[in-house]
Amino acid sequence: MKKIGLLTSGGDCQGLNTALRGVAKALYEASEDLEILGFHDGFRGLMYDEFRVMRPEDFSGILTLGGTILGTSRQSFKLMRKPLDDARPDGPDKLDAMLRTCEKNELDALVVLGGNGTHKTANLLSQAGVPVVSLPKTIDNDLWGTEITFGFQSAVDIATMVIDGIHTTATSHGRVFIIELMGNKAGWLTLHAGMAGGADVILIPEIPYQVEQVLKALKKRQKQQKRFSIIAIAEGALTKEAASLSGKDKKDARLSFPSVAYQLAYELEASMGQEIRVTVPGHFQRGGQPCSYDRVLATLLGTSAAELIVAKRFGFMVGMRDGRPLPVPLAEVAGRRRQVPPDSPLVGSARALGISFGD
Ligand code: F6P
Repeated sequence: MKKIGLLTSGGDCQGLNTALRGVAKALYEASEDLEILGFHDGFRGLMYDEFRVMRPEDFSGILTLGGTILGTSRQSFKLMRKPLDDARPDGPDKLDAMLRTCEKNELDALVVLGGNGTHKTANLLSQAGVPVVSLPKTIDNDLWGTEITFGFQSAVDIATMVIDGIHTTATSHGRVFIIELMGNKAGWLTLHAGMAGGADVILIPEIPYQVEQVLKALKKRQKQQKRFSIIAIAEGALTKEAASLSGKDKKDARLSFPSVAYQLAYELEASMGQEIRVTVPGHFQRGGQPCSYDRVLATLLGTSAAELIVAKRFGFMVGMRDGRPLPVPLAEVAGRRRQVPPDSPLVGSARALGISFGD
């Protein structure tokens, strides 16, 4: 009998259950002699050998379900060579514990659904001999080796809906709204939602901004008798000064504000002569049902992962290239991030519309 482990790791997103369903249904179609182990809460379940034996019914009715039926957790890659149990510094480290679980349960394959951090650990496991196949999930869309990740489009839809909603109240009151969207290191979500929602200023981590330039763009709109302005800012957007600081100083520079949107509101307030409000949809962007695009994408990637397992091809993430699923070596994916190129066509299109990036 073949034994396949499944786990979802890192921040959740829409489409995780859809992808699990895709993998499982395709595997059950390919073989009747199959047992699927669903590990609880990501790598934590693998470390502590916590799983449940899944039945085919577990994968029915979850196509449209948000979150993950397996649960998830963040497990820092940096701690993988640290003891599993702090009270037993000489005991097994986290990687050893995971390897032990794979061996004990005689896993023929381990399917890992995750984002950037997850892929570093997936690669570590793969290098240690575990037959890993992974799938790219994250609302940030910033995984190397794939044109798109599932979760992204659903989050863009939600973030766009937020901007649409804010437009009407901003217009009524003649206010400036700063809408902070997720994306700590990558601005894909803010860029796409900002474009789709008609933001006037888009601020993303890849293009450091200057408060004076943002102010200039807002003043220009005031001069044009525009009653309101919308700024879409990624949570990880940085001023030019902050971008030049080292990691710790960067964090310290923001300590007195709950987040970047509040800091910008404070910095703009005195000079704007217009009311400013902040909206932060936060984890709402990761919640609820996957959109139809993500359902299709997650299913396609899920069944492609099953194909790799049947063919006994391991050590790959299934990415999308030119609209087709493609196995990408985990070693290529791990530790790299796909950010928005500042000269990308979408940034160019936004600039052509007169949208300011504050640079
Ligand atoms: O990686 C997805 C993401 O939603 C990022 O956009 C965000 O910075 C982060 O996760 C939030 O993490 P957490 O769910 O741990 O608060």
